[in-house]
Amino acid sequence: MSRPIMDTPPISPDSPWLAPMAGYSDLPFRMLCRGLGCAAACTEMLSAKGLSYGGHGTERLLASAPGDRPLVVQLFGADPAAFARAMDRLGRDGFAHFDLNAGCPVKKVLKTGGGAALLSDPERLVALARIMVRAAGAGRVGVKLRLGFSQGEDVFADLGRRLEQEGVGWLCLHPRYARQMFSGRAEWAKVRELVRAVGIPVLASGDLFTAGQAVACLEQTGAAGVMFARGALCDPAVFARFAALRSGLPAPEQTPAQLAETVRRHVELARDLDGTARGLRKIRSFIPRYAKGLDDIRALRTRLARCSSWDGLLEAAGDIARLGPAAPAPD
Ligand SMILES: Cc1cc2nc3c(=O)[nH]c(=O)nc-3n(C[C@H](O)[C@H](O)[C@H](O)COP(=O)(O)O)c2cc1C
Repeated sequence: MSRPIMDTPPISPDSPWLAPMAGYSDLPFRMLCRGLGCAAACTEMLSAKGLSYGGHGTERLLASAPGDRPLVVQLFGADPAAFARAMDRLGRDGFAHFDLNAGCPVKKVLKTGGGAALLSDPERLVALARIMVRAAGAGRVGVKLRLGFSQGEDVFADLGRRLEQEGVGWLCLHPRYARQMFSGRAEWAKVRELVRAVGIPVLASGDLFTAGQAVACLEQTGAAGVMFARGALCDPAVFARFAALRSGLPAPEQTPAQLAETVRRHVELARDLDGTARGLRKIRSFIPRYAKGLDDIRALRTRLARCSSWDGLLEAAGDIARLGPAAPAPD
């Protein structure tokens, strides 16, 4: 039986989350977003099997720090025994909140029978959620779903109801089918359907590129909260813009000086939390996305590609303040 702990991470319209993003939602990026108003953050997806065997790559994805809370560890896979071992180990390491990936459509994950493949294997999906809830306690586990595997296979509402009965604390819906990958538009109306179908909170994900879109999504769907993904990758300050809009203020404008400050902060966090050559290469790949709207982005890109030291990166970050003109402020 699941332990009677109702200890959900913050879920409310004013508590935006950072979505799980493989390759991106690492410790420095999570800390950057937290500093800008992100209320809870997810790790990159971790293989339950890899975790239970202690693979080096998987271990790295678990890197965390004291300010990195609330943290939701996302698992993918399909093997119940591996999930039980992984949850046991994560619990011993002090992690408290978890998410089951039932939406990832990439081949590498589908091959394991996990991710979006679980949408076509409901018994397994429910069994994995049950294992996680038993290990973590009711209210501490969420499931991230897509609508179904192929167009027209709308399994999300039935699955949502079954998962609620298992003690799952929240659901997140990215309202596209797995086969769509990222094509077409996220169908927010289906988020509304899920909100009506279940009694547990539903987080909306999908095409939330700006703060204004996230506010509109909340209004249109009645979702309990939102999760920023690609929106945060291009503009980590989307969390601050969202907070401003929600409190009736105009979203702050993005100036090159503010952008330079965000980039400097990200570089410092990466240097302090993952000061390896790998960490340096990774942060270099983030920055051009932030500076997308600026005029001299090509020159910046070339310069970043040549940067082989943290000091060089900090200098390049500072120079963003002198680039122009400012990107049009995302709303
Ligand atoms: C680069 C990238 C990596 C992602 N990795 C994951 C992941 O590890 N687990 C997951 O559940 N979703 C993952 N997603 C999906 C996002 O969490 C989110 O649901 C999706 O991007 C839709 O939101 P958006 O349109 O606002 O970006 C990823 C998305 C992107 C763009």
